[in-house]
Amino acid sequence: MSLTSKTIGVFDSGFGGLTVLHALLAAHNPVSRYAFIGDSARLPYGSKSRRTIARYAVESARYLVEQQNAGFLVIACNTASALALDAIEQSVSVPVLGVITPGAAAAHAATKTGDVLVIATDATVQSHAYATACSALGLRALEKACPLLVPLVEEGWTDHPVTSEVINIYLAELLAQAATLGMKPDTLLLGCTHYPLIRPLIEKAVPAGIRVIDSAEATAAAVAARFQNRKSTDPTELRFFATDSVEKFERLGSRFLGQPTGPVTLVDLDG
Ligand code: DGL
Repeated sequence: MSLTSKTIGVFDSGFGGLTVLHALLAAHNPVSRYAFIGDSARLPYGSKSRRTIARYAVESARYLVEQQNAGFLVIACNTASALALDAIEQSVSVPVLGVITPGAAAAHAATKTGDVLVIATDATVQSHAYATACSALGLRALEKACPLLVPLVEEGWTDHPVTSEVINIYLAELLAQAATLGMKPDTLLLGCTHYPLIRPLIEKAVPAGIRVIDSAEATAAAVAARFQNRKSTDPTELRFFATDSVEKFERLGSRFLGQPTGPVTLVDLDG
């Protein structure tokens, strides 16, 4: 069976990865079948250890390959990409793409000063995956953990004054630290797939001269390039799975995907 006749499996700890799926649907690639799993029962990953994140992420990855016949995996979660990509690659026999490398490449394409700010979960920041990937491209990256943002997004508070205030506080701290280090940042990379859902609030909070970018589009472009930009003419087939409340996923997921998810299937990965 050819790769293009298979399914692209997309995985996140929650709704955030839908920003990547949204970009995949808009990009030119010949695969028209997608299976998305949100491991919502065990979210947030961003406050957990590498060992736990790897164990959870491998279970989702195997579910997509073994139960949903995925022939290609997109790890639409920065935390799992930063801490569990090797473990996932070792546990499945299909190609796997994470979001860190495309994210760093997008920062490289966007910055003129070479100084990049990155906001992400605690675990992603502690791994320094973005600092390492940016440094390999000749960029200086200053990373900041913003642990309150994922729960606010999962709550659906994507246009809420509390979320705006939290963003203001985190960014003020980050900009002050950048100034202390003598950095001249012109790019803010959203290093968590949940953050594009509050991008308008983040854009309002950053000073003029700093451009906000995220890895979703860059990841989708990397997938399309892998399939040599051949677009499928088949109708798109989407299947959604969650490890907790499917009602919440259907309600908020449809909002974040920009189209109805349809029925979401509850799965138990613990067994
Ligand atoms: N969406 C995940 C990411 O990109 C983080 C969510 C979580 O902490 O589970 O890092």
